[in-house]
Amino acid sequence: MDIKEVKENAKERMKGFCNLCRECDGVWCAGKVPGMGGAGTGNSFKRNYEKLKQLKVIMRTLHNVKNPQMECELFGEKLSFPGIIAPITGTKFNMGGYVSDKEYSEDIILGSKQAGTIAMIGDTGDENCYKVGLEMIKKYGKGIAIIKPRENKEIIKRIRMAEEVGALGVGIDADGAGLVTMKLFGQPVGPKNLDDLKELVNSTKLPFIVKGILTVEEVELCIEAGVHTVIISNHGGRCLNDTISSVEVLEEIVEKTGNKINILVDGSVREGVDILKYLALGAKGVLIGRPIIWGSIGGREEGVKVVLDTLKNQLYQSMILTGTENVNSVSKKILFK
Ligand SMILES: Cc1cc2nc3c(=O)[nH]c(=O)nc-3n(C[C@H](O)[C@H](O)[C@H](O)COP(=O)(O)O)c2cc1C
Repeated sequence: MDIKEVKENAKERMKGFCNLCRECDGVWCAGKVPGMGGAGTGNSFKRNYEKLKQLKVIMRTLHNVKNPQMECELFGEKLSFPGIIAPITGTKFNMGGYVSDKEYSEDIILGSKQAGTIAMIGDTGDENCYKVGLEMIKKYGKGIAIIKPRENKEIIKRIRMAEEVGALGVGIDADGAGLVTMKLFGQPVGPKNLDDLKELVNSTKLPFIVKGILTVEEVELCIEAGVHTVIISNHGGRCLNDTISSVEVLEEIVEKTGNKINILVDGSVREGVDILKYLALGAKGVLIGRPIIWGSIGGREEGVKVVLDTLKNQLYQSMILTGTENVNSVSKKILFK
C-alpha cells in the first residue's frame, strides 16, 4: 500500500466529511466542527496552513550532510523521528464513521509502533473514546493520554486509569475548555488556574502535558506548576475562530522558556518539510493530526504507518536539501526571513 492508495481510499470513505484536498488548507471543510474542519469560518485552521506555508526554507546542496540523523528521545522513548500522533477522537461525528473509535485507537497505537514512534489518545464527551484508547495502550504498548479539561476530580480519575494501563504520560488539552463537542454531551469543561494545574501535576508521577497553549505567559505558568511538556497548538483551529497559529508564536516561546520546559507543537503538518520548519523554530517535536485520520480510514494500521513513513522520508530528504545534520539541533539559518 502506498500513500496514493491510502488517500484515494480515504477520500472515497470520508465523503461529506473530508475532501482530501490537494492542499489541506481548511477551506473546503470550513465550519465543519463536529467534522474535520476548523471552527466558524475556519479562519484559525486556514491561518495554521497559510502561516506555515509562508515560512520558507533555504535550499543548500554543497555540504557534507549525506545521512541525516532523525532519531530523538521524547517521554523517555527513543523515536525514529520527532513526529508523534496527535490525540483525536469522535470517529463517527468527526470523520463519518468508517472506523470506530476502538479501531482508530488500534490503528494509531499499532501504526505508530511500526513506524518507530508513539501516539496520544484523546478524550471527548463520549466516555467510550477515552476507554478504548486506554484499552489499546494496554493491549499493544506505548501511548500518552490527553484528557479534556474537565473538573480536576474527573481528570484525576482518568489519570489513574491511564496509570493502570502503563501510559507514558498524561495531560490535558487546555484549549478544549469551551468545545462544542463536549457541550453536545453535557459534560463540564473549563479553564485551569495555577492551583488547578499544580493539583493535577502533583496527582501523578507521570510526565504531565498541557496541550493548546499559544502564549509565553501561560508556558511560564505551566513551568511554575511543574508541567513536563507544553504543546503549542490551537487544536487544529477547531476551538476558536480568528485565533493565531502555533507557527507565529513558537519561536518567541522557545526563546523565552525553552530551557525550562519541553516544547512540542502542532498545526498543519502535511509534509516532511513542515516538521523541519517547526524544529528550526525550536520545537523538540511535532504532533500530526488530520493525515493520521486519512491513514487509519484509508488503510487501517498499515495506512497509519504509510503516512508516518512518508513524512519521515520527506523529512530525511528535506534535511539533506537544507544541510541539516541532526533533528536535535536544527539551525534557524535554514529559514528564510
Ligand atoms: C477530527 C479531530 C478530532 C480531534 N480530537 C481531539 C481530541 O479528542 N483531543 C485533543 O486534544 N485534540 C483533538 N484534536 C486536535 C488534534 O490533536 C491536533 O491538535 C490537531 O489536529 C493538529 O492539527 P492538524 O490536524 O492540522 O495536524 C482533534 C482534531 C481533529 C481534526
